[in-house]
Amino acid sequence: MEDRKRPITIALTKGRLAGKTLELFEKCGISSAGAMDKDTRKLIFENEERGIRFFLAKGPDVPTYVYYGAADIGVVGRDTILEENLKLYEVLDLGYGRCRMCVCGPESARELLNSGETVRVATKYPNIAKEYFRQRRQQTVEIIKLSGSIELAPIVGLSDVIMDIVETGSTLRENGLTVLEEVCPISARVVVNQVSMKMENKRISELVQKLRNALKV
Ligand code: PRP
Repeated sequence: MEDRKRPITIALTKGRLAGKTLELFEKCGISSAGAMDKDTRKLIFENEERGIRFFLAKGPDVPTYVYYGAADIGVVGRDTILEENLKLYEVLDLGYGRCRMCVCGPESARELLNSGETVRVATKYPNIAKEYFRQRRQQTVEIIKLSGSIELAPIVGLSDVIMDIVETGSTLRENGLTVLEEVCPISARVVVNQVSMKMENKRISELVQKLRNALKV
């Protein structure tokens, strides 16, 4: 009875990751209560029988919901986790949503990257870029924050290079750009609120174990 009172709340990243994750939950026997319906404008979906509710949020907001405890669990890309840099437990690598965080640009920017001169970097990930260039590479950079279509920046002269995720590489190829340096591999991860992990340890651990098992099937 106690379990039914407080559902475990799961924040999913809107889009492809949510679709894959809801499929995984279905495999665990946990139906998404209509969250997969493409026409719905509903934001939150409750499976009362299982004591679980899902909601869909923009990627960068998922760690925020989990950090503040509005969601117990989040499913989000490692890129977003690194960028938001909040205190969360990362408990499972789901293995999908695979891509690479890379420094990209025209081939001609390779020399500049090694010249010691200030490099202009456009990115959706200013914190990851700062940490990579300033801490790991001790390179002076000017970081320009953009929201999307990052590949445009070096083409129109806004920046020398970009830091962005590369999945198939086709956006780079079609725009005459290339990977200059690889920063780290990315995939979808399950994150858990630190207090929820203590208060709801049994239910959360069981759920994570179910997901882990379903990944093997
Ligand atoms: C992402 C990323 C790249 C592209 C990489 O953009 O920012 O632009 O996908 O994928 P690829 O290597 O398979 O071509 P997204 O489609 O999320 O849109 P955005 O540019 O609006 O961020």
